Amino acid sequence: MKYLSLHTGAKMPALGLGTWRADKGEVGRAVTEALNLGYRHVDCAQVYGNEAEVGEALKATSVAREELWITSKLWNNAQRPEDVRPALEQSLKALGLDYLDLYLIHWPVQLAHTVMYPQSRQDFIAWTTEHALETWNALEACVRSGLVRHIGTSNFSTKKIQVLLDNGSIRPAVSQVEMHPYLQQDGMRAFCRANGLAVTGFAPLGSKHRPAHQHREGEPSLLDHPEIVAMSERLGTTPASILLGWAVTRGTSVIPKSTNPDRLRQNLAAADLELGEADMALISAMDMGYRFLDGSHWMLEGSPYTLENIWDGE
Ligand code: A2P
Repeated sequence: MKYLSLHTGAKMPALGLGTWRADKGEVGRAVTEALNLGYRHVDCAQVYGNEAEVGEALKATSVAREELWITSKLWNNAQRPEDVRPALEQSLKALGLDYLDLYLIHWPVQLAHTVMYPQSRQDFIAWTTEHALETWNALEACVRSGLVRHIGTSNFSTKKIQVLLDNGSIRPAVSQVEMHPYLQQDGMRAFCRANGLAVTGFAPLGSKHRPAHQHREGEPSLLDHPEIVAMSERLGTTPASILLGWAVTRGTSVIPKSTNPDRLRQNLAAADLELGEADMALISAMDMGYRFLDGSHWMLEGSPYTLENIWDGE
């Protein structure tokens, strides 16, 4: 397994297990299976609704806590400073842990505290730099209290991360963003390299399991891309392995979701696949800035959120 070095000197396993939409009744088995196969990195979030079952698997494992890398995420309704620590403690309790390795602000979107998913404009709080810094300061206090070792962002633009770098006292360690050959995030990668953050890519396989309303008609498929398929045949592997090997060869970390034992094994093995320059160049040409998860579900009528102000044109 490759590891990414973070600014603290800590090492994060390059390939982790994604748990979004890993169903209750299945996710615990998948985490146990993954740990037995050799996974050491599990990516969780409070909003996934399955942290308690992930926690059962973590409690039952004989893998030492120091060998594990556990990430969770602060949901959009708990970004007010007084809500940050209780939300983190809720995830820790569900996961059965004393500390997290990494805690991310899940989205640059704020919701009223009582709202999990917005239904109307009243449920939203407009994003401001001032609010974001208050949230960040509360996260920094959680690092100082030992509840979490690293903090970072998810779905943030480089512009929003820059605000944290300029004003915070603890640097973000990781930027987690959607990343795959159709959305290669070269700008984010260069920014993170220059500023000492690691990049983790979600939806590396195209997130086919996301909710139906988030699918678009005629959207491109990664796993069926003819050149990805041809490359996998030439290298005697699978399209998914090519996509994951590409991510790790570029020096990013990647968190494919699976609850299927064969695919869990296949995905872990892909972390050791090193693609050659010619294959990397072929994939490089596939970038089209395409987001499978573009955040348009935050754009109900009257919402202060737009594609422009979430992604800052990036
Ligand atoms: P499953 O859990 O049944 O394996 P992403 O990580 O991009 O969000 O994609 C996750 C989706 O891809 C899930 O539907 C998952 O299904 C599927 N998947 C995971 N690993 C593989 C693989 N090696 N080959 C094909 N599909 C996979």
